[in-house]
Amino acid sequence: MNKFFSVADVDNLDNIVKEALELKANPFAHETLGKHKTLGLVFLNPSLRTRLSTQKAATNLGLSVMVMNMDKDGWALETRDGIVMNGTTVEHIREAAAVMGEYCDILGLRSFPSLTDREADYNEDLFNKFIKYCGVPVVSLESATRHPLQSLTDLITITEHKKTTKPKVVLAWAPHVKALPQAVPNSFAEWMSQAQKEGLIDFTIAHPAGYELAEEFTSGAHITHDWNAALTSADFVYVKNWSSYKEYGQVYPVSENWMMDNEKLKLTNDAKVMHCLPVRRDLELSSEILDGPNSLVIKEASNRVWAAQIVLKRILEHLSK
Ligand code: CP
Repeated sequence: MNKFFSVADVDNLDNIVKEALELKANPFAHETLGKHKTLGLVFLNPSLRTRLSTQKAATNLGLSVMVMNMDKDGWALETRDGIVMNGTTVEHIREAAAVMGEYCDILGLRSFPSLTDREADYNEDLFNKFIKYCGVPVVSLESATRHPLQSLTDLITITEHKKTTKPKVVLAWAPHVKALPQAVPNSFAEWMSQAQKEGLIDFTIAHPAGYELAEEFTSGAHITHDWNAALTSADFVYVKNWSSYKEYGQVYPVSENWMMDNEKLKLTNDAKVMHCLPVRRDLELSSEILDGPNSLVIKEASNRVWAAQIVLKRILEHLSK
């Protein structure tokens, strides 16, 4: 593996999940693989889980880690080409990425979308420039359109907790007070659609009208506005808010209450409930679910380590060829 940006960078989902679970059982089996190599983690936006789990995974592999909070500690970054930098930006991504590539063997980057320019966000302009100019393998720590470490984690967690060979997995939209990116639901849909193609799950997406995701991520999924029908017999419910793709970044009023709670849980097959976190309690997801036996959110967050570790292991193996 020479980069990790989407499900297309993984050849077989079953295999990568099995290998991640082997690392979970034996975290230090490859503790010298990353010796004398450096991972740089570059954040243009906040993070708790991605930052800490990726550092822990890297340490388990013997990597040195440097973290750069570009949004707080870096020079104001210019990403546009062909402009005179006589405004507020101080350093161009061409130099910044190239310099970071000199210091690091692998780089991770987190960059959220603007939610104002759909074309630039969905072309992944910033991420692609970073890859182009840094010259080393890049791991997405969440980009404008995808969060692949989260989605791999989610598949690992579903595999660990499934009670049937082909569980019904539902991605369910939830309310929020802010306009949130589509990256997590896009990515979850992309990975679960692939898992469905590989015969691992049945996949449904439920959301109110107006919240359709881009079709490139939802191929093969059953998509419905009927939340109750979607929840019926569900084995896993993945709760997440997102803003509109069509009316890009907009938030529509929704009359029905889409917050997942114990009443809705009764419709399911005693479903396990997932969320990538951070979660707004009693807005997106009820406290009774989060504090109850059906919640997987902490186990899911814990599994972030093994998703990051298998990805870093594969990239290190590629570098040592
Ligand atoms: N789920 C997730 O990526 O969490 P952070 O934003 O805290 O990293």
